[in-house]
Formats: sequence, structure tokens, C-alpha cells
Amino acid sequence: MTGTIRKDVLILGAGMAGLTCALALPEELDILLVSKIPIPTGSTYLAQGGLAAALSEDDSFQLHLRDTIIAGGGLVDEEAAIDIIKSGPRLVNQLSQWGAVLEGAYGSGKGGMEGGHSIRRVLHHKDRTGRLISEVLCERCKGKKNISILQPAFAVNLLTASREMPELVENATDRCLGAHILHDGRISTVLAGETVIATGGAGKVYRYTSNQDSATGDGIAMACRAGLPIRNMEFYQFHPTCLFHPDKRNFLITEALRGEGARLLNLEGQRFMENYDPERMELAPRDVVARAIDSEMKRLGNDHVLLDATHLGREKLEESFPEVTEGVTSVGIIPWLEPIPVVPAAHYCIGGIDASTDGSTAMNGLRAIGEASCTGFHGANRLGSNSLLEAGVMGLKAADSIPDTVLKPDIFSARDWTYGRAEPLKENVLVDYAWAALRNVMWDYVSIVRSDRKLHRALRIIDVLADEIEEDYWSLIPTVELLELRNICTVSRAIVRSALRRRESRGLHYTLDCPGQKQLPRDTILKIQL
Ligand code: FUM
Repeated sequence: MTGTIRKDVLILGAGMAGLTCALALPEELDILLVSKIPIPTGSTYLAQGGLAAALSEDDSFQLHLRDTIIAGGGLVDEEAAIDIIKSGPRLVNQLSQWGAVLEGAYGSGKGGMEGGHSIRRVLHHKDRTGRLISEVLCERCKGKKNISILQPAFAVNLLTASREMPELVENATDRCLGAHILHDGRISTVLAGETVIATGGAGKVYRYTSNQDSATGDGIAMACRAGLPIRNMEFYQFHPTCLFHPDKRNFLITEALRGEGARLLNLEGQRFMENYDPERMELAPRDVVARAIDSEMKRLGNDHVLLDATHLGREKLEESFPEVTEGVTSVGIIPWLEPIPVVPAAHYCIGGIDASTDGSTAMNGLRAIGEASCTGFHGANRLGSNSLLEAGVMGLKAADSIPDTVLKPDIFSARDWTYGRAEPLKENVLVDYAWAALRNVMWDYVSIVRSDRKLHRALRIIDVLADEIEEDYWSLIPTVELLELRNICTVSRAIVRSALRRRESRGLHYTLDCPGQKQLPRDTILKIQL
């Protein structure tokens, strides 16, 4: 890819949201799909549990909505939730038409069960749901003449009218013109009538995460730098059960196992959830379970707890949970004979770029869909398996509405990237140190249980690192590692600043300084000027 590229639609990210959007757009539109890692991969690919949708005869959209609202700690945007949940059946049908047929959609009691759901409604493909969806949708995209796929390629920054073509700013509303893309060691200018951010979450801001290394919040950081409002970043979801093993740190143990009766035990063998949520036990919403595990580990001075799924037996585990079974046996744990050591780890970014359910944002020509966005659907804590639902529905809805708004990019122009006096990085330790420092401070000071003191300390440390990273950004030839570092720094800052603003404990934000909930929940909207 050389020089300036012009496309009708530029989609950044090739997970569930980006792929769905690309496939659902009309074939007359010329689309560039950019993935920073070779597809199929990313958080969608890793999704085990499934996709929540109210399709069975004993379910209803009202019941799914009720469960979403309860899990969301009083902060769910009901309008967004109704829109997304009601669109679930359309998404499931569309996925089937494309060849991704999920189990458990129809009939009663056939779906999987997860925490916070009052009924079995999680559609799945054993515990490899995301892998099936990713593989099928990627293959389809590769077969479409109007979709070009650029991989591995990294979106560096958004190009905006306010910087490049002020005459296109309408009534003080900026317009996105595309992005600078790093590919094959050089940075190209991609101009697009519509740009869609579908870059996923930012688990790498924390030392321990269930996410792949690529989850560095690139889209959220880019949008932040372009002046877009970022919403509810204080709510970072920790999945209660990631494998605790030095050789397999980011391996998820699906919540669907708890849906089939797996029990959490502390290292004294006690089923401790009875002390935290005796009614819902292991199937309480994730914020409750993750906090209970954190509290047990601190109380007993242990670095993990246990998940006992031995009652399921070898046949059921191998047949229904092949991913988990293969994953844990590969490190010598036999799940039908012994409990699995687990710890909570950063899993899902609830906050993100403030967006409507069709992805539209405060900037013309820019949409944000999936985990990079925040519609308010998840409130202060996401109900398990609602993320693939949201990502797919937003992809479809964005594709419905883009043809009405897309401009031909022929009229756009933007400056090409200039390297100036930038030099190659000679001392890797500068970047390596900052990566480790950021992820450690976020884990130690800004994870499951917070306090003002820890948050203020974290912010001071992040501010110092941010100055150094900016200095490197402007003086060094950009590499993916450096650009990702800059992005996790921006996202970390947004999480800490949002957490400091929320003077209560709600959902995934729990602080020792304000342990109760305040009467009127409000969203936290940040605009960070850099
Ligand atoms: O536990 C899981 O399988 C994860 C599901 C989700 O994050 O939605």
C-alpha cells in the first residue's frame, strides 16, 4: 500500500463488530478492513461462552432486559438495551445465513447458562463460539470483491477536518477524513467517506488479562486524542475465572462451567460464595463474584482460588468444553480429577467512545462499534455474553445507516505523515520499562478494589510516564510497540480520571472511600485534551 488511498468505508478492526459491519454493507461500497493482527484472531476469536439472545420459547426480550439491568448496577441505558436486545434474533439469523450456526437458539432450555441470566439463553458452539464466528465471517470477507483486507496494519491516528480541511467542519462539528495507517514499515494516508472504529478493548492496560496482546485500546485512545467524548471508563470488567498458571496466564475458564454447576472453593476447601451472595452463589453477576474472590484471596493470603468442575466428568468436559479441557490439560491439570486454579483478570472494557447503537459518534463520518464504544448497554457491569450480541448488532445497524451518510472521499485531502528528525529507538529498555510500569500500576492501584489514595498515586505515576512517552513519540520512528504504549497510557489515564470522578461504588467500580451507591447514577463523560 503506497501513497494516499481513498475508500468509501474504512473499518479499523476485524472482530465481531468490524466483520459484521463489512459483510452487511452494500456491495457497491468499496471497503478497506484493517486488522493489526492476522485474522481470524482477537477477543471475538477467544470468546468461549457465547452470544446472549432471547430466542427460546420460555424467554422474552423483557426478561433479557431485566437481567441486563440488574447486572448493570442501575446504569444501563434502557433505550440502547431495548434496541440491542430486540435486534438479537435478526443477528442470529444473519449469522446463520452467513454460515455461523449457533447451538441452543430454539426450543426450551437448550442454550448455555451464565451468571446473572435467569434462564438458559447463551447461544454457543461448545466453548469455541467466537472461533466459529470469526472463522466463518473472515472467510466470507475474504471472498467479497468490495472488501480489501489489510493485515497486519496499525491505525496510528484519525485524520480530522479541523486539522486538515477546516471548511468541512459543520456547525462546530468536526468530520473524520480517515486515518494514518502503519503497514510494512511505512505510514500511509487512508481517506474514507466513513471511518468505523471496531478495535476492541484494552485488557493490556492491566498486568493480568484474559485478552490477547493486541488489546491495547487503540481506537479509544485515537478518539480521545481527536477530542471525542469517552464514557464510563471507570468500569473495567474483571472476569472471575482465568487460569492461574505461570505458563498460560491469559487463558479464560468460561463462566458457562459455573452455569453447569462448577463451584468456587478457597484454598481451605470452603465454598465461599455462600458468604457473599448466598442466593445466586457462583452465578451472581461478575462484579460480585470477582470481588468475592479478591476478598477471599486477601483474607487467606492466597494468590488464587479453585474452580471445581470434577462433577461434570471426563466425557461431558471433553464434549462440551473442549477448549477449556485442552487448555488446562496442556499444563498438566486434569479437570475431571482435580479443581482448576483460577484468578480474576481484566477482561472487558465497559467504557469507550460515546456512541449510539448504530455507532454514530460526536464526529461526522466516524462511528465506533463493539467493545471500543460505549452505548450504555452494559451499564456499570456487563452481563456475560452480551458483548458479542452488542458487537454484532452494532455492526449490522452501522451498516444499515452508513449508506445514508457516507460521502465520496474524492473531495478529501490530508497531509502525509512526515518523519521529521525522528530516529530509530536504540534503547529498548525505555519502551519496555514504561510498558511494565503502566501495567503494574494499573493492576496494583486501579483494579478490583480502589481507594482515593491509590488512584491519586496511580495518576501521578501515569502522568510522568505519559510525558516521557510523548517525548519518545515525537522523537522516535514509530513502531507498533511504541504506538501501543502511547495508547495504553491514554486509556489508563482515562480509567483513573473517570474512577476519581465517580464518588460512589457501583458495579465494577468499588472504592473504599465511597462504599455505597449514590441516589442518582450518571454517566462519566470525559474529554481529555492532550
Ligand atoms: O465466561 C465466558 O465465557 C465469557 C463470556 C463473556 O465475556 O461474555
